[in-house]
Amino acid sequence: MKILKNIRAAAEALKKAKYTVVFTGAGISAESGLPTFRGEGGIWKEVDPNYFNIDFFLKKPGLTWEIIKKVFYDQLINVKPNLAHHILSIMGQQGIIQSVITQNIDHLHQEAGCKKVIELHGTYRRLICTRCSTEYDYTFADLNYLPPTCFVCRGVLKPDFVFFNEKLSPEVKRRAFDEVKKADVLLVIGTRAEVYPANTLPQLAKEQGATIIEINLNPSPFTDHYTDIFLNIGAAEGMKQLCRLLMCQEETPAGK
Ligand code: APR
Repeated sequence: MKILKNIRAAAEALKKAKYTVVFTGAGISAESGLPTFRGEGGIWKEVDPNYFNIDFFLKKPGLTWEIIKKVFYDQLINVKPNLAHHILSIMGQQGIIQSVITQNIDHLHQEAGCKKVIELHGTYRRLICTRCSTEYDYTFADLNYLPPTCFVCRGVLKPDFVFFNEKLSPEVKRRAFDEVKKADVLLVIGTRAEVYPANTLPQLAKEQGATIIEINLNPSPFTDHYTDIFLNIGAAEGMKQLCRLLMCQEETPAGK
């Protein structure tokens, strides 16, 4: 079967690699119960993305916050990492992967124990004052009263994740690009990577000579162009199979 052949090829590429970078999107957290953004049941099918435009937020923060709370905070507070996040964490400890670049704001890689995580699109866990830039852990804000405001200057607090029409932190972007430039394998999991500049990472890796392994339930816009080994499988199952080939020791028969 093609999938088994591809899983073996992916495990071989990971074994040989000196520097493996993982690049994840909403699909890796789907099995934790979080919706993806596009496709059936996706967030952008339910919610108009214009609410997440930074200019709209700054004009009507109360209205956007009602939606942010419903779509993100009410869900994220109860969510747990799944097997795919846990296996990546173990692979990090074993030196099989070197870092994770994620577009997810859900903090699940860190909760699973991953040490080197670059949050390209920020995080829901930090709030930042739109007036004086004071930063808060989200637990300091009372989300029963929206929009939450700054204790210092009464300015509106914004989640420290990237809105549409908002620039990424240059420092975070630089770190992500530097990681990809070092990679000889880029393991892409559960993303369509349709937003800039995340969508340029697979191409950059490819241009640097990296092998691109992709795990996704569906082909993505870059599967045909950049992916070398496509594992058409769910993230948790894909990681479980790779883990088995990469980490399980052969059992020694008793007495030997
Ligand atoms: N296992 C693997 N892949 C999955 C699974 C699963 N269990 N479930 C869904 N997928 C795949 C889908 O096939 C799809 O290719 O995950 C991908 C999710 O794509 P998107 O919804 O577009 O999410 P993502 O790529 O993370 O979006 C990128 O877009 O709107 C912005 O800022 C938002 O960070 C987000 C960015």
